[in-house]
Amino acid sequence: MKLFSSVHDVPDLNALVTEALACKQNPFAAQHLGKNKTLGLVFLNPSLRTRMSTQKAALNLGMNVMILNMDKEGWALELQDGATMNGSTVEHIREAAAVLGQYCDIIGIRSFPGLKNREEDYSEAVFNKFVKYCGVPVVSLESATRHPLQSLADLVTITELKTVARPKVVLTWAPHVKALPQAVPNSFAEWMCKADVDFTIAHPAGYELNESFTPGAAITHNQDEALQGADFIYVKNWSAYEPYGRVLPGNEDWMLTNGRLAVTHKAKVMHCLPVRRNVELADDILDGPASVVILEAANRVWAAQAVLKEMLSTI
Ligand code: CP
Repeated sequence: MKLFSSVHDVPDLNALVTEALACKQNPFAAQHLGKNKTLGLVFLNPSLRTRMSTQKAALNLGMNVMILNMDKEGWALELQDGATMNGSTVEHIREAAAVLGQYCDIIGIRSFPGLKNREEDYSEAVFNKFVKYCGVPVVSLESATRHPLQSLADLVTITELKTVARPKVVLTWAPHVKALPQAVPNSFAEWMCKADVDFTIAHPAGYELNESFTPGAAITHNQDEALQGADFIYVKNWSAYEPYGRVLPGNEDWMLTNGRLAVTHKAKVMHCLPVRRNVELADDILDGPASVVILEAANRVWAAQAVLKEMLSTI
């Protein structure tokens, strides 16, 4: 694997989940693979889980790790081809990516969307330019439209905890105080549509995701109906795709509380974190037995380790 940017880069989903669970059982079994290899983690946006879990995964594989918080510590990046750089940008992504590729055997990059220009965000301009110019294998640490390491960890968590062969998984929209990207729900939907699960998406009218990410999913505006018989509930806010990046008024009653779980099949509640308590999810869920958010975050290590292991075996 030379690129991990979406579920479409994964030739065998079950094999990758099995590999992640094998890494969890025996974290240091492949330390030889990463010897004298360097992972560069480049962040254009904040992170807690992605940064620490991917670093830990690489260390488990014997790799060296270098981290650059490019938004704070790097030069201001120019992205436009043909730009006359007489303004605030100092370094073009062509040189920045190519130079980082000289120092690293694998690079991870995080690049959030601006949520202003849908065509630009959905073209993945920053991520794709970085891939094009760095010249080494690239792992997405969350791009404008997807968060594949999170989605793999989510599928690992569901695989570990499921009590029926084909669980019902519900992705439900949740309220938030600001406009958030569609990357996590897009990505989760894309992975669930390929996994062996019964998948439903519930959101208020106006929060339809781009349908290319949701092939075959059941989609409803009725949260209570969606929750009936659910084995897993994935809670996440996202801003509208149309009008792009907007938060629509109302819908505060979409926050999940313990009372709403009564109709489920003893559902486990998931969230990628960070979570706004008592806005997106009530304390009574986060602090109760239904929540699996910490296990989900822990599984980020094994997801990243499985992906890095695949990449190391090809370089
Ligand atoms: N879930 C997730 O990606 O967390 P961070 O933004 O803290 O990395």
